Amino acid sequence: MRSGDVGLELGSRVAAAVRAALGVEITPAEALIRPAPPDRADYQCNAAMGLAKRLGRPAREVAAAVVEHLDVSDLAEPPEVAGPGFVNFALRHDWLAARLADLVADDRLGVPPVAEPRRCAIDYGSPNVAKEMHVGHLRSAIIGDAVVRVLEFAGHDVVRHNHLGDWGTPFGMLIEHLTDEGGSAGGSIRDLDAFYRAARRKFDADPGFADRSRRRVVALQRGDEATLSLWRDLVRASERHFAEVYALLGVKLDEADHYPESFYNPFLDEVVAELEAAGLTEVSDGAVCVFPPGFTNRDGERLPLIVRKSDGGYGYAATDLATVRYWTRERKATDLLYAVGSPQAQHFRMVFATAERMGWLDDDHRAVHIGFGSVLGEDGKVLRTRAGASVKLVDLLREAVDRAADVLSRRGELPEELRGPVARAVGIGAVKYADLSGDREKDYVFAWDRMLALEGNTSVYLQYANARARSVVARAGRTGGAVSLDTPAERALAVQLVRLPAAVAVTAAEHAPHKLCTYLYETAVAFSAFYEHCPILKAPDDRTRDSRLALAHLTSRVLTLGLDLLGIEAPETL
Ligand code: ARG
Repeated sequence: MRSGDVGLELGSRVAAAVRAALGVEITPAEALIRPAPPDRADYQCNAAMGLAKRLGRPAREVAAAVVEHLDVSDLAEPPEVAGPGFVNFALRHDWLAARLADLVADDRLGVPPVAEPRRCAIDYGSPNVAKEMHVGHLRSAIIGDAVVRVLEFAGHDVVRHNHLGDWGTPFGMLIEHLTDEGGSAGGSIRDLDAFYRAARRKFDADPGFADRSRRRVVALQRGDEATLSLWRDLVRASERHFAEVYALLGVKLDEADHYPESFYNPFLDEVVAELEAAGLTEVSDGAVCVFPPGFTNRDGERLPLIVRKSDGGYGYAATDLATVRYWTRERKATDLLYAVGSPQAQHFRMVFATAERMGWLDDDHRAVHIGFGSVLGEDGKVLRTRAGASVKLVDLLREAVDRAADVLSRRGELPEELRGPVARAVGIGAVKYADLSGDREKDYVFAWDRMLALEGNTSVYLQYANARARSVVARAGRTGGAVSLDTPAERALAVQLVRLPAAVAVTAAEHAPHKLCTYLYETAVAFSAFYEHCPILKAPDDRTRDSRLALAHLTSRVLTLGLDLLGIEAPETL
């Protein structure tokens, strides 16, 4: 099984049978193998209906012909045709037991490294300097981090980069405000949001200040040393703040990963020159624009990507064109990934379309916008504090840890010295899991009670299942022996454990952490049923006890690995 995935293996067997029985070529994926309803089988093939239509024959007849040519006897019981033309597969007990023995001995728990690793450059985090990070940036950091972990584990080569917003017109007013306040020594930039808002207020109210600010932007762009040094103070203050949040979150982003907007400044002249040479630009209202074909507004007017503004300054779009060129040309990345909110979907489509026309993107250099929805409060509106300001990330994360400590102390089973670290693992884990477990394209509602619930699809539930599994193994003092699957609960858990490779593969391919979450949740549910129905330490005999211990141990390894791929800690005890 090269893919490590039973479903895909059954798919290639079905594809071979379809060729032999019907003379039709399909891919293993087109065999449409899905997990079956558990009371019926383990896997189900749904391909006969489509093939029947194509061939003009009854689906059940097609399914029967395929089954006749199907050779799966090494891993499954004889397949059965059911319903309108499903083919049902039940894995053989001895095959499952042998597969579990392989997993026990395998560090990667059955997940093979990808056959053709890609070189991925992923843009995530990406907050703006001199502004407080808010919950929107939380999603980028959490989703991006999970995607990085999954891709790396799958065997891809991943480069992280944090596209900090550290350039542009707002810096004129920020620097002027900083000077008015007596420079960075005054400590006024400790509260970044307040600092930004104060500068904004002055800019709007005081024309003299606005004027100075505009001149400052020009000085900054010209590379005036005094201005640059003030700008650096602002950037550094922000970076300290970002680092604090990333550390609290346990997100793998540090200074070496910073590729802020200003990093691309030296390339912008060339980028625009290349666009012009390729004949892609037009001057519109004094600005140099690209109008990628097919993008119009509601009135049918063409939409521009503004690459150079009428004042000669470069903007967001120019920088993003430069990122594509830099990461593909200079850094030889094959996959450019951007974990950025869905409101920017059109911006990225336009940038990618332009990059394709420039040949920066092609069949082997692709770009994917990993978009995500907004974080909503329980009132269904974008999450805000009572004062109306956007919620500060640091406060939010501290609250998560406090609330987790509360939940844990109500259960009161943890020794004193573990309370702090476990509350952190549970609280931060809950915030991350709530974010990751839903389809990322959708908005999600931030609700403390739901995310910290001990039952249901939450990280706490997974962490509990994991801790329970670990504690049985610890109490036994041994990790078990050969697996025998004597009861339905044991078998169901085994079937679930061998599905890890499929879950990792789909999560990596679709940049969809929620698919891994669903898998882990189903695994924890299967474990809970097993735990309830199958006594482990009080098993009827040693052989059964050791088999169950092995299942518990394997479950804890799968859950621990899965949580780690999501960036969530798996404490030993809870
Ligand atoms: N700083 C931007 C924001 O907060 C996000 C940047 C995303 N990355 C990019 N390459 N455009 O909205």
